[in-house]
Amino acid sequence: MCGIIGFAGKTEAVEVLLDGLERLEYRGYDSAGVAVVSTDGKLQVKKSKGRLSVLRTLLEAEEPMSGGIGIGHTRWATHGEPNDVNAHPHVGQEGKIAVVHNGIIENYLEIKNSLIRKGIRFSSDTDTEVIVQLLEYYYKKYSNLMDAVYAVLNRIKGAYAMGILCSDYPEQMLAARKDAPLLIGYGEEGNYIASDVTALLSHTRTVTYMEDDEVAVITAGKVEIYDSDRTLLEKEKHAIEWDVTAAEKGGYAHFMLKEIMEQPEAVRKTISPRIVDGKIVLEELKGTGDFIRNVSRIYIVACGSAYHVGMVGKYTLEKLLHIPVEACLASEFRYSEPLLGESTLVIVISQSGETLDSLAALREAKRRGSKVLSIVNVMGSSIARESDYVLYTWAGPEIAVATTKAYTTQMVLLIMLGVYLARELEQIGQEEYDAIVEGLLRLPEQIKQVLNELDNYQKIASRYFNHNSVFYIGRNLDYALGLEGSLKLKEISYIHSESYAAGELKHGTISLIEPGTLVVALATYAPLVEKSLSNIVEVKSRGAEVIALTTDKTVNTISSQTSEMFVIPEVQAILQPVLGVIPLQLFAYYIALNRGCDIDKPRNLAKSVTVE
Ligand code: G6P
Repeated sequence: MCGIIGFAGKTEAVEVLLDGLERLEYRGYDSAGVAVVSTDGKLQVKKSKGRLSVLRTLLEAEEPMSGGIGIGHTRWATHGEPNDVNAHPHVGQEGKIAVVHNGIIENYLEIKNSLIRKGIRFSSDTDTEVIVQLLEYYYKKYSNLMDAVYAVLNRIKGAYAMGILCSDYPEQMLAARKDAPLLIGYGEEGNYIASDVTALLSHTRTVTYMEDDEVAVITAGKVEIYDSDRTLLEKEKHAIEWDVTAAEKGGYAHFMLKEIMEQPEAVRKTISPRIVDGKIVLEELKGTGDFIRNVSRIYIVACGSAYHVGMVGKYTLEKLLHIPVEACLASEFRYSEPLLGESTLVIVISQSGETLDSLAALREAKRRGSKVLSIVNVMGSSIARESDYVLYTWAGPEIAVATTKAYTTQMVLLIMLGVYLARELEQIGQEEYDAIVEGLLRLPEQIKQVLNELDNYQKIASRYFNHNSVFYIGRNLDYALGLEGSLKLKEISYIHSESYAAGELKHGTISLIEPGTLVVALATYAPLVEKSLSNIVEVKSRGAEVIALTTDKTVNTISSQTSEMFVIPEVQAILQPVLGVIPLQLFAYYIALNRGCDIDKPRNLAKSVTVE
């Protein structure tokens, strides 16, 4: 969703801002803009609807912006359509203050109306404009920028990360946050703010995470962070391990393909440090034995693909632990009446660690006395910081909107957690435990093997990319996997696609199967392959064209019904989806490629959904 970058330095700000915005493009946006203040206090603003290239052209056509202090923004429209006026930065009517903002100001209408009554003219439809108009109003009243900022923060309700420039303070920018991520970067050329660490990687890897209600004053040489009482804080600096090349395409046509190909390494990094002398060691859960033995119910809560990992987890953890495990969509969970309490463990899964619904679900769970364990990719993110326990996936930065390596690493980590808990609860025998641990260690090599079949995925995709509707069917873990396969396809290729539990077909969906309908039949879950075969026969006999996903052990059974197949090595049932998802990702990728889609930045989607 929206992205923020800000720079206070000794060099010209505009190039730093444009570079940062380019690195934030992946989050999804529909307009972009920058504001720079010159040393003599001239506030210059340029913004436009559309891609960054439009903004660049606009900037090139005019006199270069000069000044070392600036803020930039990519906007994903919420309040007001995507157009030049609604793009950020917004400027107050006096032309003194500029603001970029992520989040939503809930009481913006009330503030807007009261300012209109005072004679202030608004030019946009955004909630953000009330921040800047209110700031100018208070600035006029108090003649002090910090006083004005605190007055605004006391008045607005909702979520915000914001960067502020004022032409009377040409040597500084201000930043504030509440319920929306914002970090500060410390570089040699100057200091930065950003909503997302990937925007900073080419400049610095030393950062501080801003907390709710903090306000920062940032100049080229100094960063001061204050709390809500205006007390100066001593904040910890963190070193980011990701390097800049991890967030670049490195010769691949798309980030998505690069990230798919990075999976062996991402999975290895996530697994191997956690296996010591043949045992799964989760240092992060040290000393939690008593609590674990008390757990009587688990909720896995997440959104999008992370929820699909939760579905895999539901089957896996329930089987391993013999306690009820439910996978819930965070947006539903937070408004339902889940059975929370001391003996309930809530597992929140999130790549970004900033998904608003997942964060709200986490807070609700904690409020109602449950412990929260999160599986997160981005260090220092809100979900990571607010959880009782955090397990990090070591996937590195994920740029393509459609998640791939984050999904697989989340899945292996959740499986590892399940096996770890099963051992703690004495629900797993030594032999089975050892076999799974060995299986986990073999996964990176096996993923490589599955990735070697690129030609096959490409060939099959080139035969089916013109279909308008696709059904994914499977049972048990294959059903959970089908949900992800289907989502990948619709996200990036815009083909309508549905995923069904194969046994449910006869209860309605089969009426949609007609000659030529494409069905992707998942048959990797060994205990139910025969049953999946029957479902393949059912759809085939109604004219469906079937692509099957199966294993090298069951390929002969399935080949009696279809010759279009993705074949993966058979591994232990609970590890099978880790391999199974790879052909589905690549099938979706090549279909989208054939259809000429914008694979890394699909229409209407955002990488990180920080609004409800
Ligand atoms: C967005 C992304 C999905 C992701 C979901 C949850 O919809 O496009 O790929 O699965 O958010 O994101 P999270 O960061 O919480 O995993």
